[in-house]
Amino acid sequence: MWHVRLYQPTDRAAVFQLCGDTTFFGAPIEHFFDARELFLDTFAAYYTDRAGDHLWVAAAGSAEDDRGDIAGYLMGCPDTADNHRWFRAHVRKIIWRTITLRYRGLTSKTLRFAWNYLHLRMPYLDLSPYPAHLHINTRAELRGSGIGTALMRAYLDQLRSENIPGVHLETSSENKIAVPWYEKLGFQLLQRTPTDLYKASVGHSIDLLVYGLRL
Ligand SMILES: CC(C)(COP(=O)(O)OP(=O)(O)OC[C@H]1O[C@@H](n2cnc3c(N)ncnc32)[C@H](O)[C@@H]1OP(=O)(O)O)[C@@H](O)C(=O)NCCC(=O)NCCS
Repeated sequence: MWHVRLYQPTDRAAVFQLCGDTTFFGAPIEHFFDARELFLDTFAAYYTDRAGDHLWVAAAGSAEDDRGDIAGYLMGCPDTADNHRWFRAHVRKIIWRTITLRYRGLTSKTLRFAWNYLHLRMPYLDLSPYPAHLHINTRAELRGSGIGTALMRAYLDQLRSENIPGVHLETSSENKIAVPWYEKLGFQLLQRTPTDLYKASVGHSIDLLVYGLRL
């Protein structure tokens, strides 16, 4: 049994764990990047530390018996510009921690991926009709049991109640279950960008996909 609710600060470690365990197209991040904490500080901390009022979790147990075990999360953000501002304010600290070797896992695989990521060129895309965004993942052994649908419903209802005009998300051709599901929910493909970024880990080129939904 599980129930959907908003994030609480006591969920931080569990959300970080699940994020690291699912970042590689639903599998652990270490398939392509060994410095898990560096990734989480760069990517996930915004949602837990600043946008927790738009971070939905599926917690194991009933609402009355919530043990803080997280089965899935939807990291949301109603204003993507705020995410960019947060990143600019925090990136120096993260770079400093990296060059002073405070993160484990700074292997050649990690550094190669970081280098290629920093050189990734995405064509310009006007996302102003879709100011909100989301990232969603559920525990591998619980997929297909309705958690993703419940998280998505909670977040889209929240955005509609806040009069947010649209939401976008980034995914890829490797997310075989998620892509048709997003399309069934009404998300429309806005951009497709072929890339070799993950070739070392998946063995072939993939397409990075951006989807948008007007609310
Ligand atoms: C995509 C994801 C978040 C959906 O969450 P979920 O809890 O599995 O979602 P639900 O059980 O509500 O199912 C959502 C849809 O996916 C389908 N689905 C889920 N698991 C499936 C599976 N193993 N095989 C086929 N279809 C599956 C469901 O049938 C459902 O489709 P429907 O609405 O047409 O019935 C989750 O499967 C996941 O984390 N996948 C791996 C990581 C990923 O791709 N995340 C998205 C990153 S962009």
